[in-house]
Amino acid sequence: MADSAVPVISTGLQNIYITESKICRVDGENGKLYYRGYSIDTIARNSNYEEVAYLLIYGNLPKRQELEAFRQQLKNEREIPDSIVKLIKESANKADPMDVLRTAVSYLSIYDNETKDQSQESNIRKSIRLISKISSIVAAIGRIRDGFDYVHPDKSLGHTENFLYMLKGRRPAKEELVPVEMMYILQAEHSSNASTFSTIVTGSTLSDIYSAVTSGIATLKGPLHGGADEEALRMMYAIGKPENTEKYIEEALAGKQKIMGFGHRVYKAYDPRARIIKDYLLTLQNHASEEVRNLTKIALIAEKMMIDKLGKSHGIWPNVDFFAGPVYRSADIKLEMFTPMFAASRIAGWSAHMLEYWKDNKLIRPLEYYTGQLDLQYIPIDKR
Ligand SMILES: CC(C)(COP(=O)(O)OP(=O)(O)OC[C@H]1O[C@@H](n2cnc3c(N)ncnc32)[C@H](O)[C@@H]1OP(=O)(O)O)[C@@H](O)C(=O)NCCC(=O)NCCS
Repeated sequence: MADSAVPVISTGLQNIYITESKICRVDGENGKLYYRGYSIDTIARNSNYEEVAYLLIYGNLPKRQELEAFRQQLKNEREIPDSIVKLIKESANKADPMDVLRTAVSYLSIYDNETKDQSQESNIRKSIRLISKISSIVAAIGRIRDGFDYVHPDKSLGHTENFLYMLKGRRPAKEELVPVEMMYILQAEHSSNASTFSTIVTGSTLSDIYSAVTSGIATLKGPLHGGADEEALRMMYAIGKPENTEKYIEEALAGKQKIMGFGHRVYKAYDPRARIIKDYLLTLQNHASEEVRNLTKIALIAEKMMIDKLGKSHGIWPNVDFFAGPVYRSADIKLEMFTPMFAASRIAGWSAHMLEYWKDNKLIRPLEYYTGQLDLQYIPIDKR
């Protein structure tokens, strides 16, 4: 390319492939998603979060003993340092939970004497540590925000069951566990989305996994990415009653507002995760709380309107975040905890990508096309 030629600029890195990967396939045209070759429907129907995390990290489904050993490793890593509990106590009620989580995960690195070890074996151990401890940190943030004391983990419980136990201070009921387990599975991985990309960018400098994951958490926070489920629920609360939905959506679209929980950079069809979450929500209706029933009615009206207006014509369909809010509310999870819980699940995917990328690491360093001036004359400060 001659110096003067304008390069093709792909804003937002749209349609740019950065690497080969065997972890996840998002088929955006047909609305399909695969973890390590298994369709998300199959995974959601048959698997559990620990098995999904194993699959993502190691690349294959575990045999029974392998899964048991993996579960045990996760259990052994659940406790978090006292100073992190203290940090959470000092900040949980003043700061956004994602800011507390980001700081706590960054802080974790100084308690790990393997932080600088870049061997694959060490990075697998640290990934398991992070998968385990991030759930504990998120539970502690929620618990302490609610004005209660830190609850130590219980080794007799499974991963998400222990998360809910640490969050609620009691063993969860089945109605609380099932939706949370489902959300953990569905949010565990999604190829090179923004937070995974920023995790890889940081890792590609051969920085450590704690730094890489801290970048991922920072990126997940934004409302165009992980924060969309909270924003979608806020919108449903703002709508208030099902009969207000049509007017609200009409006005929002007329005002060129984006409706959170719709649209996706890759999916130009119905997000398969959204379908699974919606189907689950519909099974709840007879025994759901009034709040959840009301939210569901609003969500269904909004969904129909959006599909009629922007679905086939513009490829804007519900994404994973749209029905998540009502489902989380069915487990009595507070809105501010949705994105931290997303991180507690996505850590499996972030780790898997880092482990894969580091096998053949290449520093990520894109170009930008400079359009400013050159060779300006420097004028001393008192003559400007
Ligand atoms: C996810 C998202 C950022 C992907 O967007 P993108 O590929 O960068 O595309 P853009 O934001 O440029 O949107 C393209 C067009 O569709 C419209 N659009 C996209 N998402 C929309 C939404 N949720 N509601 C209304 N219009 C939407 C945009 O306004 C834009 O219209 P225009 O061409 O007339 O300006 C975008 O769909 C969005 O902001 N959605 C809401 C946030 C969300 O749910 N994020 C979670 C994703 S899992």
